Amino acid sequence: MPVLNPSARPVPLSPTLAINEAIARKRREGLPVLALGFGEAGVPIHPALTRELAGAAGRGAYGPVAGSAPLRAAAAGYWERRGLPTDPDLVVSGPGSKPLLFALMTAIGGEIAIPSPSWVSYAAQAAITRAGAVPVATPPGEGGVPNPALLADAVVRARAAGRAIRAVVVTLPDNPTGTLASEQTVRRLCAVAREHDLVIISDEIYRDLVHDPAARAVASPAEYAPERTVVTTALSKNLAAGGWRLGVARLPDARFGRELRERLLGIASELWSSAPAPMQHAAAFAFGEPPELVEHIDRSRRLHAAVTGAVADRFAEAGARVRAPEAAFYVYPDFGPFRERLREACGVRTGAELCGLLLERYGVGVLPASAFGEPAEALRMRVATSLLYGDTDEQRLAALTDPAPAALPWIAAGLDRLSEVLADLKTASGHALAPALAG
Ligand SMILES: Cc1ncc(COP(=O)(O)O)c(C=O)c1O
Repeated sequence: MPVLNPSARPVPLSPTLAINEAIARKRREGLPVLALGFGEAGVPIHPALTRELAGAAGRGAYGPVAGSAPLRAAAAGYWERRGLPTDPDLVVSGPGSKPLLFALMTAIGGEIAIPSPSWVSYAAQAAITRAGAVPVATPPGEGGVPNPALLADAVVRARAAGRAIRAVVVTLPDNPTGTLASEQTVRRLCAVAREHDLVIISDEIYRDLVHDPAARAVASPAEYAPERTVVTTALSKNLAAGGWRLGVARLPDARFGRELRERLLGIASELWSSAPAPMQHAAAFAFGEPPELVEHIDRSRRLHAAVTGAVADRFAEAGARVRAPEAAFYVYPDFGPFRERLREACGVRTGAELCGLLLERYGVGVLPASAFGEPAEALRMRVATSLLYGDTDEQRLAALTDPAPAALPWIAAGLDRLSEVLADLKTASGHALAPALAG
């Protein structure tokens, strides 16, 4: 029998995908669940996108590694409308932004500074490249961007110890906290990146899902440090097409950007050859931002705002510390205030134990802060709200168009079940309540 090399470090299943599977297992066992673990956008695919994809199904050829000319031109137009003039030759597409981020890390080389907390895959990918990640805490209330002063310190210390940090990743707006860093913080981060010669990878996959875009504009590092910033985005979140696997990267318009492009294309050519051709066609349509898709994204933004707001309220009512969500479909409450009670009544000491209790006893699936790089004892958790929107496309469509979606019966039932569970957890007998809700 063959054996796996024991010295090769195994890569565990990504926690976001693992929680999805754990919840599916509970459902198969016939147990009621409240699925708040997976970062899926939870709204139906717009029919215009389906039409475009169907029309392109016959495209079987690989095509250029960087992506088709219409896709690259459309992505350039998308960024230009956001104040980032873009040369289509500096756009590279791939099967989702996740593999693009991995290829970028590999192409840039060296260790990468990441925000703490941050999306699960940055650190995991850095570990696969064997370079490693250096977590740097974010400023209070501004997830997604390492505190600039702490970043400068971390880089100086790492380099003094002989380690090569070459890049920093930022998430604007942020997963897991659902917050958006301020322009001032982004400018300060850019100044530190310049001073210490770091490449900035700006993951802007949630850019179009800021709840109140008139009040909070996304400040991209590509505006303040264009010579060193790579921007990535995808169709996965704003258009809920994660399963279609299509992402794009915008490289700096400078000699460095052109050199990076060569390396990136080399890696892409050996890993995925080209993004799927029918998806590229649909993505070119999407990045052209026709009015029906703009309206669809507006509606989903309003839905995410309404339901994340309602979920945050339920956590606040139960006594957890929680910030008002500003973007995307995530809430990041902190059960720190119940630490003693949870330890005494339920033996819970870590965030993973708390999330385990929520899943096993109540069927509530959420992810602990430790999955996002925070210390094991942090009692914060990421709550993804989008699977509350409905089990069927009919329900999800109703959620998308209703002026008060949190009051729709199936969403209200999910919210009420959450309140019940939190109240039970708070009394910390933790045994009183039987699971009562499916969906
Ligand atoms: C912050 C962030 N970046 C990147 C991704 C990757 O998305 P995709 O590979 O679907 O483009 C995700 C998905 O959850 C994410 O949350």
